[in-house]
Amino acid sequence: MKDNVIIIDHPLIKHKISMLRDKNTGTNEFRQLVEEIAMLMGYEAMRDLPLEEVEVETPIEKCKTPMLTGRKLAIVPILRAGLGMVEGILSLTPTAKVGHIGLYRDEVTHEPQEYYCKLPDPINERLIIVTDPMLATGGSAVDAINQIKKHGGAHIKFMCIIAAPEGLKKLSETHPDVQIYVGQLDRELNENAYICPGLGDAGDRIFGTK
Ligand code: PRP
Ligand code: URA
Repeated sequence: MKDNVIIIDHPLIKHKISMLRDKNTGTNEFRQLVEEIAMLMGYEAMRDLPLEEVEVETPIEKCKTPMLTGRKLAIVPILRAGLGMVEGILSLTPTAKVGHIGLYRDEVTHEPQEYYCKLPDPINERLIIVTDPMLATGGSAVDAINQIKKHGGAHIKFMCIIAAPEGLKKLSETHPDVQIYVGQLDRELNENAYICPGLGDAGDRIFGTK
């Protein structure tokens, strides 16, 4: 495993991912679980946010105490499914700005097709957290990060709930400067490039489409 990959090992996340996998979990519960997992993973992904000592007056005395520096944050979901993770991260950092990258996988070639990109300025000064629940072939994540870098983004983390070994290898090798946070590493891709055992089509399950 490359050292830019962090597989999050936490019983709460494992439990919630098992609930997501269940084909009988309905849209409402699925959406809620994706948000909760994103919040828990966000807590881990923000472990290295910079702090500065500031002076605060408690009811007892003045003290120097650490607070987050004003580092600008951007959350960038890959549409559609990545949208489901945004609120969970915003619950930790409500002042973060949100960009959007629109991609869908061609059903035959599985290659990402770009249809939208809007990122908050100044993107080069921000810590960017790219979200997508599924890292399958890795094509969508690699393409999204290529686009962000083309716009000047330089400090990038990627967060997914389930990854296939194939996609994780491709992303970690193509973008070795990007820290990749994974909720669970699954077994393999099937012939349609779906993750096994996976959870099916994340976008359809979040938005109730087919
Ligand atoms: C899914 C998923 C990822 C992509 C992963 O999106 O949300 O973006 O596939 O596959 P990859 O690693 O092989 O590129 P999809 O294309 O189904 O679009 P949607 O989110 O709009 O449903
Ligand atoms: N996209 C999904 O939503 N699920 C997969 O298993 C693969 C790609």
